[in-house]
Amino acid sequence: MKIAMIGAGSVRFAQQIIGDVAQTEELSKADTFIYLMDINEERLNASHVLAQKYVQELGSPVKIVKTSQLDEAIEGADFIINTAYPYDPRYHEDGFQRWDSVTELAEKYGYYRGIDSQELSMVSTYSYVLVSYPDVKLALEIAKRMERLAPDAYLLQTANPVFEITQAVKRVSKAKIIGFCHGVAGVYEVFERLKLDPKDVDWQVAGVNHGIWLNRFRYKGKDAYPLLDEWIEKELANWKSRSPWDIQMSPAAMDMYRFYGMLPIGDTVRNGTWKYHYNLETKKKWFGEFGGIDNEVERPKLHEMLRMARKRLIELAQRVQLHENVKLTEEFPEIFRKGQMSGEQHIPFINAIANDKRVRLFLNVENQGVLKDFPDDLVMELPVWVDKSGIHREKIEPDLTDRIKKFYLWPRILRMEWNLEAFFSRDVRVLEEILLRDPRTRSYEQVIAVIDAILNLPFNEELREHYHFPRKKRV
Ligand code: NAI
Ligand code: MN
Repeated sequence: MKIAMIGAGSVRFAQQIIGDVAQTEELSKADTFIYLMDINEERLNASHVLAQKYVQELGSPVKIVKTSQLDEAIEGADFIINTAYPYDPRYHEDGFQRWDSVTELAEKYGYYRGIDSQELSMVSTYSYVLVSYPDVKLALEIAKRMERLAPDAYLLQTANPVFEITQAVKRVSKAKIIGFCHGVAGVYEVFERLKLDPKDVDWQVAGVNHGIWLNRFRYKGKDAYPLLDEWIEKELANWKSRSPWDIQMSPAAMDMYRFYGMLPIGDTVRNGTWKYHYNLETKKKWFGEFGGIDNEVERPKLHEMLRMARKRLIELAQRVQLHENVKLTEEFPEIFRKGQMSGEQHIPFINAIANDKRVRLFLNVENQGVLKDFPDDLVMELPVWVDKSGIHREKIEPDLTDRIKKFYLWPRILRMEWNLEAFFSRDVRVLEEILLRDPRTRSYEQVIAVIDAILNLPFNEELREHYHFPRKKRV
């Protein structure tokens, strides 16, 4: 068994997934190899040292191998997990800095939170090609190499934008790509706030990545939506956000529920219309005291926090190497768990395919007729059962509402199509047309100015090439 992790320095995924392997009986074996790959040597080395120490602490014999070569990681792999957040080391420390620079610049041209914050895709760091170009490109590169070096492997796409990347890869390669997101866990927040025992809830969610809806919600055999209505009546006014991420039961979520007829789940709540996002004050009204995570106060704090966590991991690795008597599971239990899985779906998926440990997951896979009114080959986020024989989609019952389809999913799907049209046609006018449809745009000149400014950023040299910059003569 060979599992490869591309972007293995990732703070949010690497050690967590390794811990899951080590704590999964069927996978925690001496002939399980985890290949760690990253372009950043310091992070790769730290990840390697920590992973070896971590599996040892967990008493697992799995082997950890490091490499800076993409081909070496991919060759002969059974599963490839992509968590890379690309950046150019000549200019930035990480992908967050790249995103921050583009956002800051776009704000100068009147695009609050950057041109990539768009209706139905407010989840800042992701989506829209001007910022995500390197992320889409890297995934395509991995897929292309898989065709040659690991044609039967699964690509577990974790790095964003999952929605755009899964479609792009499907369209141009044969690689078996599946999109992973943990946003669906938002349902447990709903159950908790309504005081429902999860084991008595019969539920389904479906849609597209970061656009999923609680289509089925039954408690002890009865429709549970009246319980939510009651909660809104009695409790919503007293609801308080416990952190910038805690927005599942926010006024925005409930407002969307009332308009669309089903509750948006997880990151979907971040991805409403501009109604909830015009400015920080508006965001606070709808998402509670922090205004959610996608704003000018909380975003920089998050990026700083992730950078601090990375620093802490690198220091920990140094201490491990000096043979200090450190126990990772005690020093940093938020990341190095013992006796507890991370909650990520990757390893349960791998164990189901490889060892027939049947499991229910929520994955981004081709629709294949499951959600009515959407193409068969569109990658959608669906409830599935996975076992050795493959991925089996649940029947969606009841169907999503007409409003979810017409006002949310179709417009979001169109935006994905615009993104891919821009990426594959390499025509800068497509980027212009996307921005012309943005309610923040006041003139064509503004559009030209902001695109030129972004393309002229020194670290966007390749992007500039990609879009035939400078422009061909306009009419
Ligand atoms: P991070 O910056 O901590 O980790 C990314 C790693 O990728 C870094 O170690 C970096 O050196 C490495 N990297 C950059 N370019 C590379 C390349 N060309 N090849 C190999 N490695 C490369 O970022 P974090 O916070 O772990 O996020 C990673 C990705 O996961 C982002 O795209 C983020 O949006 C996404 N994400 C997805 C979630 C989901 O539920 N699907 C949830 C949270 C984050
Ligand atoms: Mn996600």
